[in-house]
Amino acid sequence: MLRTHNLGELKLKDISKEVTLCGWVQKKRDLGGMTFLDLRDRYGITQLAFNMDSDTELCIKARKLGREYVIQISGKVIERSSKNLQISTGEIEIEVSQLTILNESKTPPFTIEDKSDGGDELRMKYRYLDIRRNPIKENLLLRNKVSLETRKYLDSQGFLEVETPYLIKSTPEGARDFIVPSRMNEKQFYALPQSPQTFKQLLMVGGIDKYYQIVRCFRDEDLRSDRQPEFTQIDCEMSFIDQEDILNTFEGLTKYLLDKIKGVTITDFPRMTYDDAMRIYGSDKPDIRFDMKFIDLTNQVKGNSFEVFDRSEIVIAIRVPGCANYTRKQLDKLVEFVKTPQVGAKGLVYCKYNEDGTSKSSIDKFFDEKARLAWSEKSGCEDGDLLLMMSGEIEKTRKSLGVLRLKLAEDLSLRNPEDFAPLWVLDFPLLEWDEDSQRYHAMHHPFTSPKKEDISKIATDPASVRANAYDLVLNGNEIGGGSIRIHDKELQKLMFKHLGFTDKEAQEQFGFLMEAFEYGAPPHGGVAFGFDRLCAILGGEESIRDFIAFPKNNSGRDIMIDSPSNIDQKQLDELNIKLK
Ligand code: AMO
Repeated sequence: MLRTHNLGELKLKDISKEVTLCGWVQKKRDLGGMTFLDLRDRYGITQLAFNMDSDTELCIKARKLGREYVIQISGKVIERSSKNLQISTGEIEIEVSQLTILNESKTPPFTIEDKSDGGDELRMKYRYLDIRRNPIKENLLLRNKVSLETRKYLDSQGFLEVETPYLIKSTPEGARDFIVPSRMNEKQFYALPQSPQTFKQLLMVGGIDKYYQIVRCFRDEDLRSDRQPEFTQIDCEMSFIDQEDILNTFEGLTKYLLDKIKGVTITDFPRMTYDDAMRIYGSDKPDIRFDMKFIDLTNQVKGNSFEVFDRSEIVIAIRVPGCANYTRKQLDKLVEFVKTPQVGAKGLVYCKYNEDGTSKSSIDKFFDEKARLAWSEKSGCEDGDLLLMMSGEIEKTRKSLGVLRLKLAEDLSLRNPEDFAPLWVLDFPLLEWDEDSQRYHAMHHPFTSPKKEDISKIATDPASVRANAYDLVLNGNEIGGGSIRIHDKELQKLMFKHLGFTDKEAQEQFGFLMEAFEYGAPPHGGVAFGFDRLCAILGGEESIRDFIAFPKNNSGRDIMIDSPSNIDQKQLDELNIKLK
């Protein structure tokens, strides 16, 4: 070992010990006859002291060290005269007697501090330097802890970790596949898994009745702050269970992780149907850390000669507590916001319930005080509150009001990152209409079982068929999703038919699975958590990028290793690929 201790370790109890330490030079201060140096490693910072009078040569050597030089020192632990109680080693320093430079460093392109002066792209290009910074390092430590605790919990429940292949055939999760050409099988390609979905179902046929895997998945889709082209899932599957068993097991995992990682005890783990989530919050992943439920005013407001409302399918509102004092300018800003493409609404109607008991709305021409009072009664508005209304087609209006709800929560700081509000959203629709291809797609994936009582509607009213599919939502983020699977060959065939697969297509893509189902497939179901998202939320953030050691940027590039990149003609020839 080149060191006797790490840099977060030494305390007052170690006074007078002779130690050898290694690390990176963080900061240097020359004060008259003394030089102080902060030495940093993964564990912390230890202050080194060099005395010009007692060892001039050593002190001069120390003064020449640059930022991020890697050094080894030996010396004695002494008590500091001016203590820093903010850090664990802040009561001691090292009186250095020997200094070895292990490696020099160029001046880093950005400061290696908690608040760096480096922009996103620069930090990504020099990610190894970024990882030296506390915030990124802490995220990686958190990630490690979450995976360790996940393994402990699932192991204690009898789950078996099994690895599944990465070079596979296209999987049906709805995004595009990343494709890998095969040299040995000319003109043929592997696909990287969008998830281990089919393999975990095959493991159930194989009798591995409780499977999990912390596994990399690959999806070629548009990127956002909560999406990376390669990301990690905690992927799980169970046999001989029903939906209730899955919900209980993974409610257990979520509670366990929140307790172990955040010290938070969750007592309330609500469940809500997809229909209710859309009706009450306009979102299939509602953030229930704050209230602001939708109030349906359609019956109250229709038939009052206000044409906008009269021709709308629905008129819904949210109550914004304490905001009756919003100025004209603030309200105009909200109207501008709802008209942006992100929200896509045509307008916004408001009604202020003033502190003095009077009320005023933006449509007073059509509605009198009596009407305004009826709205406040229905919505629970009190003096000082603001009521915001939207109208139009049902689905669109709900979604738009849902976005406005989140914006108001942001503006009014209604969401505390230290609060954790998990929620199961149940009974998702089985199918989803796709405008581009003009046909139905599986909303989750084609192996998801329809609700028994809805199967008969599959030919006549496909949109109304509900699935045994569920999402786990945490603080308004979808952190997991799963379903009870179809284990019956005939039902699976029926599903493929309604998804527009010909027998030949179904056979080509999923023949192996349908064949497996002929050899005694047990009833089974499962779930996958988005591991990066889970870590980000536990770390109090929504962007997953800084919870991944080496992430890609928004164009899917790794700018550090400069990938994707061109490949040699020789490699292309071997793969029989001709570029246009
Ligand atoms: P699903 O497609 O819902 O289900 O994915 C499960 C969870 O993975 C996370 N996730 C992502 N995280 C980061 N970047 C991405 N591009 C990305 N895409 C998805 C989300 C999501 O909830 N095989 C099924 C699971 C099952 O049915 O058991 C599946 O993959 O948090």
